[in-house]
Amino acid sequence: MAASDVVNAVAPDTETVLILDYGGQYTQLIARAVREAEVYCEIHPCNVSVDAIRERNVRGIILSGGPNSVSESGAPDLPEDLLSLEAPILGICYGMQLVSRAHGCEVVASTSREYGRATIRVTREDPLFAGLPEELEVWMSHGDSVGSLASGVVNVAESADCANAAVAHPASGFRGVQFHPEVVHTPHGKEMLRNFLFGICECSGGWKMASFVDQSIAAMRAEIGDERVICGLSGGIDSSVVAVLLHEAIGDQLTCIFVDNGLLRKGERDLVERVFREHFHIRLVVVDAVDRFVGKLTGVTDPEKKRKIIGHEFIEVFRDAAKSVEGARFLAQGTLYPDVIESVSVFGGPSAMIKSHHNVGGLPEDLEFDLVEPLRFLFKDEVRKLSKQLGLPDEITWRHPFPGPGLAVRIVGEITDERLRILRDADAVVEEELRSSGLYREMWQGFAVLLPIQSVGVMGDARTYENAIALRMVTSRDGMTADWVYLPEDFTRRLSNRIINEVRGVNRVVLDVSSKPPATIEWE
Ligand code: XMP
Repeated sequence: MAASDVVNAVAPDTETVLILDYGGQYTQLIARAVREAEVYCEIHPCNVSVDAIRERNVRGIILSGGPNSVSESGAPDLPEDLLSLEAPILGICYGMQLVSRAHGCEVVASTSREYGRATIRVTREDPLFAGLPEELEVWMSHGDSVGSLASGVVNVAESADCANAAVAHPASGFRGVQFHPEVVHTPHGKEMLRNFLFGICECSGGWKMASFVDQSIAAMRAEIGDERVICGLSGGIDSSVVAVLLHEAIGDQLTCIFVDNGLLRKGERDLVERVFREHFHIRLVVVDAVDRFVGKLTGVTDPEKKRKIIGHEFIEVFRDAAKSVEGARFLAQGTLYPDVIESVSVFGGPSAMIKSHHNVGGLPEDLEFDLVEPLRFLFKDEVRKLSKQLGLPDEITWRHPFPGPGLAVRIVGEITDERLRILRDADAVVEEELRSSGLYREMWQGFAVLLPIQSVGVMGDARTYENAIALRMVTSRDGMTADWVYLPEDFTRRLSNRIINEVRGVNRVVLDVSSKPPATIEWE
């Protein structure tokens, strides 16, 4: 499965802004702001070739900030010949310094970093600041700065500590800002980015989900022709959106494969069958592998072993099921943009250390398919918009993330049919209560965990010795870090009562009040 085989969902003539990543921690925020302005953009490593840029309809280029100093040996530089392109450039922080230096300006190293809020004063009328007040609050985070300016480069804003807080080289369309317009601490930052996109690059905008759907359907049809495609469906939002989008493009050439590994939430298999087979009329193969998975997990308590067994079994089961779809050439996957950026960034990106274990439920390289990854340029919330646009039910669009190894990583210790039944029942009560109280959408994940202990209780007049359930409710932006949620008292009481009364085998409910790090979201 080579990356070059990936079906690109965006036509090459799409109006595009390129963001060159110099390893800045806010690079994704730049992309988000550009997409919010309805201009399509992509993040590329800072050593992208200018020839590759020329092949696209690039209307503007934004250079991110970065951790290096431009004067350091080996510090990343501009791609060769970048300034020969006609597209206007916006350099942010490190990016500003690089382009200013290339135009002949001096970059001065400073002994101290300027970090935090600052006020800039616009010194000269410039389209970058059109419609904005003369004094603006911004967020600074830099060591070096641009010193004396070369001819043709003019100062457009200053701050108390930074004489060249913004510069312009009007002849080439270059603008440089020492501060970060992409962060929320620069209140007018999004307007500045919009000014760059529409006032300087003259983008036409209007890039919406509807345009994405049309373009991506056309691109997939062209690439797939009359070949057959299989899609591993998990019931999560990403693979669900891929399935529906592909079905719109190629109809019955698509077959989805759903593996019931016995580690799913209550009603999950029914939901998938109802939505995809009955509502969307998608060809769906449901593989009942419950006994196979649960059998292999019997007696295993080590979390890593459990994950390995599940990952391995999944691949085997999927491989067999895929063989049953005769002549399939393509495999569709719900890869999202953050995963793509992570794997292409020359620096590994700020998120380089995440998720070594999260490819459980993923597929190996040696499956002999070409990949179709229509979401590979979308962020999660864009996938949600797409999901709504495609008519997927809220139950799927807004469902909390669920790990590939399923309930197995929420049952601490051994997996048995009985323990799966207990957790599944408790989890269903949690989900029901979260949804009916309106709390569901306010958190990243909320679920039950079955602990490997029994404790003494009393029910009626009898002594009980039963299981304990932990409630795990967290907020998070991306799963990499998380905060535990302080739940309303009446909600917690009701939930605890319901679990103890309704779930046979549970006599105690406890709250997990640990953040990530140092804990993780899942217990195993
Ligand atoms: P942790 O437990 O590492 O989880 O804090 C972070 C996020 O990732 C999800 N997760 C997984 N997702 N396969 C997945 O697809 C996995 O093996 C896996 N393990 C954890 C977890 O639910 C949380 O959202």
